[in-house]
Amino acid sequence: MKTELRSEPLLTAKVPLRDDYARIVGLLGMNRNTGRRRADEQLLMLSRVVEQSATMVLISNSRGDIEYVNPKFTQVTGYTLEELAGENVRILKSGHTPSEEYTELWSAISAGREWRGQFCNKKKNGDLYWATAIISSIRNAEGVITHYVSVQEDITERKQAEEQLRQLNVSLLRKQQELLAAMEGLKTAQMQLIEAEKMKTIGCLAAGVAHEVKNPLGVIRLGLEYLSHQTRSKDPDTAQVVDDMSRAVARASSVVGELLSLGKAQELVMETVDLHKLLDSSLALLRVALATDHVKVVFERASSLPALRLDARKVEQVFINLIINAIHAMPDGGTLTVRTCAKQLDPTEADTVLDPQMRSRFRSGDTVVVVEIDDTGTGIPEDKLPKVFEPFFTTKAEGKGTGLGLTVCKTIIGFHGGVLNLRNRPEGGVRVSIMFKA
Ligand SMILES: Nc1ncnc2c1ncn2[C@@H]1O[C@H](COP(=O)(O)OP(=O)(O)OP(=O)(O)O)[C@@H](O)[C@H]1O
Ligand SMILES: [Mg+2]
Repeated sequence: MKTELRSEPLLTAKVPLRDDYARIVGLLGMNRNTGRRRADEQLLMLSRVVEQSATMVLISNSRGDIEYVNPKFTQVTGYTLEELAGENVRILKSGHTPSEEYTELWSAISAGREWRGQFCNKKKNGDLYWATAIISSIRNAEGVITHYVSVQEDITERKQAEEQLRQLNVSLLRKQQELLAAMEGLKTAQMQLIEAEKMKTIGCLAAGVAHEVKNPLGVIRLGLEYLSHQTRSKDPDTAQVVDDMSRAVARASSVVGELLSLGKAQELVMETVDLHKLLDSSLALLRVALATDHVKVVFERASSLPALRLDARKVEQVFINLIINAIHAMPDGGTLTVRTCAKQLDPTEADTVLDPQMRSRFRSGDTVVVVEIDDTGTGIPEDKLPKVFEPFFTTKAEGKGTGLGLTVCKTIIGFHGGVLNLRNRPEGGVRVSIMFKA
C-alpha cells in the first residue's frame, strides 16, 4: 500500500493516561481533519449559491465554449446545461446587439478587465430577452485566463415596460397636440362667434340709425335742393352755405349707408358665381372713373376657376370699394392689375400669410381661389398699415372717404369664410389679395 504524505490542519485533543498511582503511562489523542471539511463545506455553499441564485450565471472557457449554466439561466433561456455544454456562447446571439459591442466586450475580458453592459440574446424558442451582464475572467495559478464568468440579470420586463412607457409618452404627446389644435379651433370658433355677435349688434344699431337718421336726412337733402334753387340767383353767400350743407348731408348719408351694409354683411344670399363675370361687371361700373383718372386696367385671368358659392351683390360691393381705393391712390393715373388664380395652398402660405383668426379654416393642401388687385399708387405708410381696417380710419379729405370701406370689405369676405389681406408692393403701390376656399 502506498502512503501519501500530505500536511493538513488537524483539530486535536490529548488526554494523559494514568495508572492506579496517578502516574502518566500514556497519552490518548483524538484528531479531526477540520481544514478539509471546511473547504468542502465552503465549496458546497458556493455551489448552492450559484445553483439557487436569482441571477443567471454562465461559465465558459477562454474560447467561449460553455461549460456551465445555472438553473436560472435554464429557466430564462430554455436551454439546459446538457444542451449548452460545449456550445459556443455565439449560440445565444440575437443579431440585435451591435457587433462593435461584442468586439469591445472580448477585448476587455481577454485583457482581464471586467465588462459591464446590456445585450439582447435569443432564447431556445427564438424569443428575445434583454439582460444586463457583468463578465469577468478567471485566472489559474500561473495567471493565465482559463475561464470567463458571466453574471446576467433578465431585464426583458423592464425593457418592455420602458418601451410601453415610451409609446405611451408618444401617444400622450400626440393627444396633447390634438387637444391643443382642438383648443385653437375652439378659440377661433369663439372669436368668430364674438365677431358675428358684434356685427349683429352693429347691424341692429345700423338699422336703428337707418330708421332714425336716414329718413330725416332725406328730408333735409330735399329741402336743401329746394333752397339751392331758390337762393342761387339771389344771394351767392347763402348759395355757398346751402352747398356746404348739401355736401355735409351727402357725407352723413354715405356713412349711414356704409354702416347699414356693415350690419347686413352677415345676411348672405348665396348663389353659384363666375368670379370673372363679377369682376368684369365691377370694372364696367367704374369704367368712367377709371378713364377720367387715366387708370389703365390689366386683367390677368386664370384659364379656369372653380365656381364659387357667394353673395354676388356683396362681393361686387367689395371689388368696387377696393377699385375705388386704388383709383384714389393714383391721382396722376397708373395701372390697375386684376389677377385671378386657383391653387393648392402650400404650408408656408397656410402658416404665415393668413390672418391668425382664419388659420384653422385654411389648411395646407386646400384648393383656394385668389383674386389680387394691384395698383401703382402711393402705397400706405408702414405705420398706418395696421390701422386701415379700423372703422373710420381714413387719410382722405373731408367728403372723400368715411374710412369704413375696408372694414366693410374685410367683414363681408370674412362672412364668406375667406380672407382679405393688404400689403405694400415692393415695386410701389398696394396689393389687396382675397382668398376663398374652393
Ligand atoms: N389702394 C390703396 N392705396 C393707398 N392707400 C390705401 C389704399 N386702400 C386704402 N388705403 C388707405 O386706407 C384708408 C382706409 O381705406 P377705407 O377704404 O377703409 O376708407 P376710405 O377709402 O378712406 O373711405 P371709404 O369708407 O369711403 O372707403 C384710406 O383712407 C387710405 O389711406
Ligand atoms: Mg375706401
